[in-house]
Amino acid sequence: MKRPGPNPEDIGPTVSATHAGVAAGGDIANVNTFSQINHSENAIVLPPEAFTPITDVHVLPDTTNVPGPGSFVGRARALKTLDTTFAREGGLTVQVLHGLGGVGKSTLAAHWARTRCAGNPRWWITADSETAVNTGLADLARALQPALTTLPTEVLRQRAVQWLTGHDDWLIVLDNVDRIDHIRPLLDRFTTGRILITTRRATGWHTTDTLRLDVPDENEALDLFTRILRRQSPHDIDGIAEVCAELGHLPLALEQAAAYCAETGVTPRAYLDMLARWPAQMYAAVPEGGSAERNIARVWHITLDRLTDTPLAGASSPGCGAGVFVGSRSVNQASQQSENAQFTRV
Ligand SMILES: Nc1ncnc2c1ncn2[C@@H]1O[C@H](COP(=O)(O)OP(=O)(O)OP(=O)(O)O)[C@@H](O)[C@H]1O
Ligand SMILES: [Mg+2]
Repeated sequence: MKRPGPNPEDIGPTVSATHAGVAAGGDIANVNTFSQINHSENAIVLPPEAFTPITDVHVLPDTTNVPGPGSFVGRARALKTLDTTFAREGGLTVQVLHGLGGVGKSTLAAHWARTRCAGNPRWWITADSETAVNTGLADLARALQPALTTLPTEVLRQRAVQWLTGHDDWLIVLDNVDRIDHIRPLLDRFTTGRILITTRRATGWHTTDTLRLDVPDENEALDLFTRILRRQSPHDIDGIAEVCAELGHLPLALEQAAAYCAETGVTPRAYLDMLARWPAQMYAAVPEGGSAERNIARVWHITLDRLTDTPLAGASSPGCGAGVFVGSRSVNQASQQSENAQFTRV
């Protein structure tokens, strides 16, 4: 929904002219007519759409780049929390979703945005750097006005921000926020709309709407493992509960283990045995903003090395090449410590 009467200060470098064509040298605010193009290096010819004030641009139905759909299990309570937070009327709603790397924050955010949010646009922005945020906003401007895709990124970014400032029925997912100052200018700018943040960072958020996502419960973990295991063909699930427990119910680890079993034909029980016989060490503490995924990848390599002596190593395929050992105690400890730990003991 368009908000009435955009604040002139929010309009910024909006183009207004009656010409059918115009050139802007890098900054859309510096509009030149065709008579001046010859003297303007790097001039950009703008189509008539450029003359519509950005706040008047109508968003096409279902404008979204949210990833998916993919397989999704469980998380009923967290989904409900997001429903409740974002059902609030008026103002800007910011919900922070934090937790250990690989616990399922992005998957949950994408699922909620795709299936339970009525806003338009629903826009996914990778937010692990300032550049990434700006690129994501520029992409939104392109989606709003495809005819203007060739404008410089900074101009597009500003147009997206102006559009968002003038409307309220939108959702922006800022995925994988590493540093708050990467998104602080945005949070300070908006007074309406919905922002869903995923991050490994638990502290420093100036909102009471922070939701910590823990590892899924046993039923959800079993469901996740089984779906991947049986995606292609029937598969023996004996030992699955033990494997899930051993992996601390961490979705990233479950996914890797299930994919390995599915790919190689190893049963979960045999996989468990491999974990016991060729354990790689997973150190517990993951620093705030640290990468559990990287740790797992490291463990994966260690495990790969060990598996070179095993018959199974030859049977594995790239991307699903080896068992991964993540002791359940390690994962649970990492889950508890990740948001406060200052050092990693890798
Ligand atoms: N509810 C779920 N249903 C199905 N699969 C899931 C679910 N949650 C997580 N996964 C799977 O687990 C893996 C890790 O999840 P995801 O990438 O969402 O974690 P994350 O918390 O965003 O991690 P990071 O902090 O590294 O970004 C994904 O590949 C995803 O497919
Ligand atoms: Mg993520």
